[in-house]
Amino acid sequence: MSSGDKTYFITTPIYYVNGRPHIGSALSTLCCDVLARYHKMLGQKVHFLTGTDEQATKVFEAAQKAGVDPQVFVDDLAADFKQSWADLGIEYNDFIRTTEPRHIEAVQEVFRRLQAKGVIYKDLYEGWYCVADETFFRDSDVGPDQLCPNAECRQPLRRMSEENYFFRLSDYGDRLLAHIEANPTFLEPEFRRNEVISFIKQGLRDMSVARPTSGWGIPVPGDPSQVVYVWFDALINYLVSAGWPNDDAKFKEIWPANVHLMGKEIYVRFHATLWPAMLMALDLPLPEQVYAHGWWVDAEGRKGGKRTGGLPHPTDFIHSLETLTGTSMQIARDSLRYLLLREMVFHGDSEYSYEGFLKRYNSDLANDLGNLCNRSVTMVNRYFDGVIPTASRFDPEIAEFAAECVKEYQQALTEFRFNTALEAAWKIVARLNRYIEERLPWKQAKAGETEELAVTLYTCLEAIRIVAVLASPVMPDASKFLLKQIGVGNVDNLTMDSALTTGGLPFGAKVASPEPLFPRINEIPTEMASPDAPVETENKLSEPAEPKVAPVAVVEEPSVEANSYITIDDFMKVELRVGKIVTAEPIPNATKLLKLTVEIAGEERTVLAGIAEMYQPDELVGRLVVVVANLAPRKMRGIESQGMLLAADVDGQAIFLAPETEVPTGSRVR
Ligand code: ME8
Ligand code: MG
Repeated sequence: MSSGDKTYFITTPIYYVNGRPHIGSALSTLCCDVLARYHKMLGQKVHFLTGTDEQATKVFEAAQKAGVDPQVFVDDLAADFKQSWADLGIEYNDFIRTTEPRHIEAVQEVFRRLQAKGVIYKDLYEGWYCVADETFFRDSDVGPDQLCPNAECRQPLRRMSEENYFFRLSDYGDRLLAHIEANPTFLEPEFRRNEVISFIKQGLRDMSVARPTSGWGIPVPGDPSQVVYVWFDALINYLVSAGWPNDDAKFKEIWPANVHLMGKEIYVRFHATLWPAMLMALDLPLPEQVYAHGWWVDAEGRKGGKRTGGLPHPTDFIHSLETLTGTSMQIARDSLRYLLLREMVFHGDSEYSYEGFLKRYNSDLANDLGNLCNRSVTMVNRYFDGVIPTASRFDPEIAEFAAECVKEYQQALTEFRFNTALEAAWKIVARLNRYIEERLPWKQAKAGETEELAVTLYTCLEAIRIVAVLASPVMPDASKFLLKQIGVGNVDNLTMDSALTTGGLPFGAKVASPEPLFPRINEIPTEMASPDAPVETENKLSEPAEPKVAPVAVVEEPSVEANSYITIDDFMKVELRVGKIVTAEPIPNATKLLKLTVEIAGEERTVLAGIAEMYQPDELVGRLVVVVANLAPRKMRGIESQGMLLAADVDGQAIFLAPETEVPTGSRVR
């Protein structure tokens, strides 16, 4: 990590706009976002760059295949990437597109300078080109099948025989090896560094960096019949965002990059070899670190991607979580951010499984963190009227344990082990859930041990605060929600230091009334519903998100009956009341949902119900229904639903329950 005033500069790959983003592109982008947020929480200035790679042959061919003008095609997809990152809560400082003038001018300037130095020269190219990988191969690389030698690709190669411009990459092998040796953390992780070293030691060959134009690409300055090779063009984006070549002051503040982060397939040849050689040729400092992560793969170990498929669009995943859990888009998005980082073992490949992600949601978010927060806040409400009790101590056993976990978290993040960092934070959660079972606060309450009860609950809240701070770079909104629940007043501008300073929670402050943050998913589907298909959960009972969702149980006293019976007290927690439907209207783009206004004892509520296929809006007005009146409100399709209607489930058709005779609205049902 660099010190002083140097801005922490972190980059993602710039993504080809030959297809829509998916959770693979989301992974690298999210990692950078988390590191950017983390470094801001450490008090550093940050420059976080992402963008799109638009001058590629495969982009041009995808536009042709779609029958769309290439500029329109790339504009649309670049907008899709930007929207996806907004949906995912990515806060970049710069989004560069390689069709922007600032980029084109800089690429041409590099070309001119290196040509003037003789580092770029013209020659005849005889060999092969893989469009899928945008990579040149020599005869000696290619077998008799004439397929791409990259085992993940194996696409047919194109034969090339033409005048090209070449970059004298062969001159840089020794200097690269010397730099790698002198800067042991330049290439990470270590086993990939070793791959780079053996690649360079095999001998580097000069590389074709411009070839005759096919109508798309950055023209070679002074020779418009040729365009710059897309990799030579794309890598330069990192310099452009830092202000090169025109803005010296900015460049001094931002360059060199602290970290270039990417997937392993573009590491060895491009980011760890070609790019540093280009910078050496330009006499510019090299990035401090180049880091490659593994892939999301399927159950057979195959990489998912734009061409191979298998990985959902991040926004579709967010919407599917919203529907399954009934939470807001912000919480659904933060849940996906958590799941992506928790499920990816960063140094290797990880299997992507929708089902696996949802199971992880239930265990880590709904059960472990959600319940911990819910039961702690509920007990402060119950036993201390919602006021954080003055406690004689933050239980030292928990305090020390939490401090250890904070250290582990920080160490893991400096090594990009996001899953380990999150595990460290969740160790505190697990420890607290055990702590509650050890201390039995409900018994302390019954026995009148108020001082010890205060210690138990204060300790829980204070440690939840620490977890929320640690979770904040990954789940910024959920973490604010958690902090507000436990009574923290100012939830903006959190610092990492505040995770190590105890006593961040003031005695006497009020906690909120408990709200389930991560509602449990009751039935886990194995596949994501197609975003265009009608939403499955709108099918069955009266309220669309409800059937698959159980509100988070407030587990306070372990109950032996819990598995089979509920007590009358449990039942009485559900407030059922008679209501009358006063308005009913369809919701745009929702095939099954109706928006109802229900009057209960003079009070009107909005209720969303998945009944559009069973009832016409008109025939509903005036009907009496039974409403679950004390259900936490849920937002769906941007509308808050304030209750749920009871209905009989008859082969998937929802038939309303109603009183036999006209009764006043507001009558309690029991
Ligand atoms: O290579 N698992 O763009 P690209 C994890 N334009 N990460 C994945 C992934 C997966 N299955 N699939 C993609 C390019 N990624 C060039 C980069 S940079 C100067 C030019 C992520 O659209 C991962 O970061 O093919 C990978 O390196 C990148 O997307 C490739 O994106
Ligand atoms: Mg690729």
